[in-house]
This record gives sequence, structure tokens and C-alpha cells, in this order.
Amino acid sequence: MMNKVGVLLGVLEAVTILIGVNAQTVELSDLLNRDPEKIAEIMKRVNVSQVEYTTKMGVYTKMTQETSRPRRLSSLSPTKVEGEGSGNEVLRFSLTELSLTEGALLKMFVMGASSVSVYQVVSDGSEALVREIAEMSPGGLWVDSHLNLPSASISESSEIAIRVDCGSNCKVLEPSVNLLISTSGGRPTRQTYLTDCANQRDKLNLQCCRQEMMVIFKKIGMEDVLAPYNVDAGFCEGLCSPRLNLRYEHTYIQVLMNRYFPLKTPPPCCAPSKLESLQVTKLNADDPTKMDVLNWNNMIVTECQCV
Ligand SMILES: *[C@@H]1O[C@H](CO)[C@@H](O)[C@H](O)[C@H]1NC(C)=O
Repeated sequence: MMNKVGVLLGVLEAVTILIGVNAQTVELSDLLNRDPEKIAEIMKRVNVSQVEYTTKMGVYTKMTQETSRPRRLSSLSPTKVEGEGSGNEVLRFSLTELSLTEGALLKMFVMGASSVSVYQVVSDGSEALVREIAEMSPGGLWVDSHLNLPSASISESSEIAIRVDCGSNCKVLEPSVNLLISTSGGRPTRQTYLTDCANQRDKLNLQCCRQEMMVIFKKIGMEDVLAPYNVDAGFCEGLCSPRLNLRYEHTYIQVLMNRYFPLKTPPPCCAPSKLESLQVTKLNADDPTKMDVLNWNNMIVTECQCV
């Protein structure tokens, strides 16, 4: 009997993993339905465990392996903890592969605190507040802090110190720093595309081309996106002249109409002609302990043409 239950659980687990890999697809209507107030509410209640984070990031990083934007996760334990259990601890971590690291998320389970402040100690000894929760549930909460990455130009590895101030009765459990690492070609490469503006010599009269557009999700009100931290989503810009980079037969006629009757017909527009989807992980909008792995349709502009 127990054996059968065990087998059944095993099958259920396998099915769950398969469903997990089959990521949900984000479409434009989902984005238009985003409710900023609901997201702000979720951000206040986030309680994602290290296990949930590692599991979902595992599905995500696996999906990215087949794309042009592969990612890898590296979870680090502290190399040293000072003042453990005192409610005012210093956690030291040794970060490596800095030039490939896109972002660092410190996770820890904080128990028995009524408030918590997390500081990152800067090289001159001064501190930067990286997370503050004024009202903590004494039962405990997974506290997330996005860390500032040391500059990679000085060295590929660096020691960082974090001070956690959470009052005398508090416990800081399972702290770890999760590094999201870009693995494309083993070095941080800029993706290049056929219609890149960078390929053109005459920068003052750009012909319809793809410009770089670095999107940092946290800075455009999408802090519920946990990975990737940033992406070159691109945009299209430039003039539409005859013979160059025309998408349709119609576009050729519109170019001529614009030349002969400029007051009647505008020139064609330089617009995305090829797009790729982007894999992301984000916080679940309904359950503060869960993350989702998503496939976001038509997110990256890879080529531009006149239309
Ligand atoms: C957060 O999740 C942990 C389990 O991972 C649970 O023990 C704790 O009570 C939760 N905290 C809140 C405030 O819901």
C-alpha cells in the first residue's frame, strides 16, 4: 500500500515538473490588465522561500539555455557571520564572476522581529540601507534585499558585508545571496542584430535600424519581475528611403507617393519586423509565497524595417 502511494506521489511530482517547464505565456492583454495597486500590495506581502525561489529559477534558467540570453543561478552561503543571534548580525559573502553577474538577491528567514533593517556596508565603512520592513510578523518572513553589485572593473571577485538589525529577540536563518549570471559565451557579450544602427556610418541620417534599449524592470514599475534584471529590448528608429529595408511591396509605393506628393502622403514608419519572446520569473499575483515562470511573447525587437 505505502509503495503504491509512493509511486503515485512520484508520478504527481513528475507531472508537476513537466507543467512547470511548460511556462505560461504572457500576452499583451495580460500586460494591459496589470493593476499597479495590486502589484504594490503583493510587494508588501512577498514571502517566497529559498526553496521556491531556487526551484522556479531552475526552471527559468533551463528554459534560457536554448535562447540567445542564457542565465545561470549561483546561491552563496555566508563565509562568516558575526554576532549571530544578537539581533544585529554582520553577514559576509564572497562574490565571484562579477562581470557576468546581472543582479544579487539576498534572501533570509527572519523570525521573532517586529521590524528589520538591512544594510550593505560600503568599502569606506559607511552603510547603505537596502531593505527595511517596519512591521514584521513575529512568526517569521522571508526577507528579500536587492544588493548593490561591486564594480567588476576593479576585480572579478569581492567581499561584501551585510548588517541585519532586527532587535534583540530575532533570529536570522538560512541567509543566502543569489547571483543571476549571464552565461552567453562565457563573457558579457552584447547581442548583435542584422539591422543594428551601430552598423551604420552616418549617425546623423540613420536609415531605419534597431537601437539598443536597456530595460531595467525594477526602474519601470515592474519590480515583481525577478529575472532577468535587465534586457536589451531594442527599438526602431531612422529614415525610410527607397530601396532600403522595405518590409512590403506596398512600402515601396508609399515611399514614391511621399516623394511625389509629400503633402498628401507621409513616409513609411520604421517599425519592428522581427520579435522574440523573453523568459521571465515573477512573483505570483495572488499567492505571496509563489513565483511564476513565464514566456513573454513578442518582447524583444530583433529587426526593424519600414512599413
Ligand atoms: C512565510 O512563509 C513561512 C514558510 O516559508 C511561514 O512559516 C511564515 O509564517 C510566513 N509568514 C507570513 C507572514 O505569512
